[in-house]
Amino acid sequence: MASLPTQTILSLQILVLLIAYVSGGVVEAKNQREFDYFALALQWPGTVCQRYTGHCCSSNACCRGTNAPIEFTIHGLWPDYNDGTWPSCCTGSNFDIKEISTLLSALETYWPSLSCSLASTCHGGKGLFWAHEWEKHGTCSFPVIRDEYDYFLTTLNVYFKYNVTKVLNEAGYIPSNAEKYPLGGIITAIQNAFHATPLLVCSNGAVEELRLCFYKDFKPRDCVIGSDMLSSKSSCPKYVSLPTFVSLGLENGEDAFLSLPQNEAL
Ligand SMILES: *[C@@H]1O[C@H](CO)[C@@H](O)[C@H](O)[C@H]1NC(C)=O
Repeated sequence: MASLPTQTILSLQILVLLIAYVSGGVVEAKNQREFDYFALALQWPGTVCQRYTGHCCSSNACCRGTNAPIEFTIHGLWPDYNDGTWPSCCTGSNFDIKEISTLLSALETYWPSLSCSLASTCHGGKGLFWAHEWEKHGTCSFPVIRDEYDYFLTTLNVYFKYNVTKVLNEAGYIPSNAEKYPLGGIITAIQNAFHATPLLVCSNGAVEELRLCFYKDFKPRDCVIGSDMLSSKSSCPKYVSLPTFVSLGLENGEDAFLSLPQNEAL
C-alpha cells in the first residue's frame, strides 16, 4: 500500500486542526442529539471590562460608573455534551424581547452585556447579547427548558442559588489589583460550597470566567469529568488575579471612545 508523503500527512493534520478550530467545537448539524449537561458561565467584570472596554455606550454595563457590576455576572446557560462539544442553534426560534419584558430589570443587573458590539445570532444575524445566548444556546436546552422566558428565568434562579462571588469572598478571595491567589484554592472553595468542580477561564493570568456545571435536574456536577483543572491545558496559571475594575464610564451613558492604555485605565 502506497504511503502518503509526510508533507501531505502534515497538511492534512493542519487542515483538520483548522476546521476544528474554526468550528469551535460547535456541532451545527441538523437533528442534534439531546445535550448531556448544563454549564452556567459567569463572567468576571473586573477582567472583561478591563480587557475589552475601549468603547462606551449605553448598553455596556462596564460604563455604568459607580453602578458597574462588581460581582460575577451571567454569560449564559449552555447545554453541553460530555465529549466537549455542544449543540447550537437548535430551533428556528428568534429572540423576542417582549417575552422577557418582566425580567428585564433583573437581566440588566445580573446578565448585562459587557461590550458595545452586537452579538451573532443564528441564521447570520446580529443582535443583543441575550438574543445570542437564547438562539445559540437556549434553543438547545429542550426538553428541560420550554421556551425563551423559561430559559432566562431558570438561569437567573440558578445564578441566585449558587453565589460564586459570596463563596470566594468568604474564603478570602477578595477582588484586588495587587493580590494573586492560588487557582487550587479558588477551586477548592467552590468544591466545598457546591460539591462539584468548576471550570475557570483566564486571560493574562486574570480570572475571566468561572463555569458551574449541572445535571439536567440542576444538581451540581463536575464541569469536565476526569479532567484536572490544574493541568497544563488550563488557560489559568497556578496563581491568578481577580482584578477590580474602575469604570471608565460616563455617568450619562454618552458615546465616547476612550483610548487610554490599560494600565492608565486602572
Ligand atoms: C451574593 O452575595 C453577596 C454577598 O453576600 C451579595 O451582596 C449579593 O447580592 C449576592 N448576589 C446575588 C446575585 O444574590
